[in-house]
Amino acid sequence: MTFDRRIKIAPSILSADFANFGAECRAIEAQGCDWVHVDVMDGHFVPNLTFGPATCAAIRPHIKGVMDVHLMIAPVDPYIEAFAAAGADVITAHLEAGPHVHRTLQAIRGTGRKAGLALNPGTPIGAVEHLLDLLDLVCVMTVNPGFGGQKFIESQVDKVRALRAMIGDRPIHIEIDGGVTPETAPLVVAAGADVLVAGSAVFKGGSVDNPAPYGANIRAIRTAAEAALAHQFAAK
Ligand code: DX5
Ligand code: ZN
Repeated sequence: MTFDRRIKIAPSILSADFANFGAECRAIEAQGCDWVHVDVMDGHFVPNLTFGPATCAAIRPHIKGVMDVHLMIAPVDPYIEAFAAAGADVITAHLEAGPHVHRTLQAIRGTGRKAGLALNPGTPIGAVEHLLDLLDLVCVMTVNPGFGGQKFIESQVDKVRALRAMIGDRPIHIEIDGGVTPETAPLVVAAGADVLVAGSAVFKGGSVDNPAPYGANIRAIRTAAEAALAHQFAAK
């Protein structure tokens, strides 16, 4: 995985057909997505349950590009090896998931995978400052984690801007997760985000038998996001 700050669209398979993950992953990649975002929930850290490393391992062969695994689980450390073995390229843990986040990030890096840290909407960015050397990605949650299809929390845009300033030239992605649409994407991209997770906004209107809407939805988000960047450069 080489680092670049171009806009990346990462559909969340939380909005896919759970009986058809393999075909859904192949469909969204064929329709032009950049990363595949995989939401793991434990019914404890978040009030919803999805699946674990066995499912990640099963879908891995159906993903050509980056498998971006978002762990909404606590504790997280006992499961890092299993998700690395399942083929995750990026493993993101939550700052709120335990008292030893530095150790968690070290453990993720220790598996050779990229290390991500997710922040709930109520979590300030101060705690990230002393972790920057261990980070490949910071995920700003723009909904409360647990469910797809929620409304984008606009107060997080200022957080993204502050985080972007804190990161400076370091090769760290800023990922946005929750409520991303062609309307909200420009706000976070202008503030400094480069990875846009989108579940409902990508999968709406399509299916594995009719995947063209996935492509149209991905393009709509990408076009809106890139227009915000072009506008920003033109204003400089
Ligand atoms: C929420 C998940 C998200 C979610 C996004 O807990 O982490 O990845 O699927 O879904 P939308 O794009 O529908 O808000
Ligand atoms: Zn997610």
